[in-house]
Amino acid sequence: MPRALLTFVLLILMSACKKPSSEECGLEKSLYQQANFPLGVAVDPTYFSLPQYDTLVSKQFNSITPENIFKPSYLHPQENSFFWWEADNLVARAQQNKQRIHGHTLIWHKQLPIWMLNYQGTKAQWEAMFKNHIQSICQHFKGKVEAWDVINEAFNEDGTLRNFIWRQHLGDAYIEKAFRYAHEADPQALLFYNDFNLAYNERKRAAVLTFLSKLKQRGLPIDGIGMQMHIAINYPSRGQINSAIQAAGETGLLVHLSEVDISVNPFNKGDLDKEELFNRQADVLATVVLAYKALPSRYQYGISFWGLSDANSWIRDFYQREDYPLLFDDFYQPKACYCKLIDLL
Ligand code: XIL
Repeated sequence: MPRALLTFVLLILMSACKKPSSEECGLEKSLYQQANFPLGVAVDPTYFSLPQYDTLVSKQFNSITPENIFKPSYLHPQENSFFWWEADNLVARAQQNKQRIHGHTLIWHKQLPIWMLNYQGTKAQWEAMFKNHIQSICQHFKGKVEAWDVINEAFNEDGTLRNFIWRQHLGDAYIEKAFRYAHEADPQALLFYNDFNLAYNERKRAAVLTFLSKLKQRGLPIDGIGMQMHIAINYPSRGQINSAIQAAGETGLLVHLSEVDISVNPFNKGDLDKEELFNRQADVLATVVLAYKALPSRYQYGISFWGLSDANSWIRDFYQREDYPLLFDDFYQPKACYCKLIDLL
């Protein structure tokens, strides 16, 4: 073979085998512009002082979930006062960027203000306090927050209802009441139930989906289910991911993959082969995204990632381990899973 031809063939082969670099998978493209459904990210406003964070959040995503600042301990720190300032700033920023705000979360067993945990009152007073909490927040953001995670994580892993202050004082009906009160305060807002482990734990998934389907059949104002999808490269299996997303779609509710992150180190090992792990992570994300794309488009509320870069992920703090669960690395550069996502959308 002539030398020039040989060089040419070798160059073609090399470029075919080369891993995509960040430039090649194109940060200039913008994720949400490639997608037929909204793409979201959980944000912590303290990071907006970093230009890379600010630019990526505004350019790559068209839906924003406040990671913490809409939780009860932040918005409702005292019985008779609410703290709106930080949340209002985030809403204004999102509006400027034409991004949807997904409100997270009205009722949860964690991140509750101390006064609420220690509240003393009759059943009627507990009810009034519950209603006031939900309606004050929904009214404040009326017309600005498109959807709410009304209830977060109401189920135990064995499929029974979790016991915490609201169930203790209002009974099981607290769930229905929360949806009704939220709807009364903002009839236009879409209302979601949100929970974790719904792909891996089939028993919990069945309990949650049956429960929500019944509520919907009874005419309760519930619009969607959020599947958090804090998953790992080792689990759930591809089959579990597919069945969970498909089953969620069969409820007739909107489906939000609401807190996606993919741990590459769930068992906290040392000496990680990051390149290999990042490629496996990209494959898992591909399974998730393809299963989501297979849903009828009328059920696709969107996919939201739980943080922007590995440097911002809650996993490191919360589980105290080395991990890299998100689309962008510690230096805000796109990882293999970002490139895969751009390809698949
Ligand atoms: C997490 C936040 O990411 C952390 O910053 C905070 O310290 C604890 O809460 N499921 C949820 C989210 O619904 O609200 C949690 O967010 C992660 C698990």
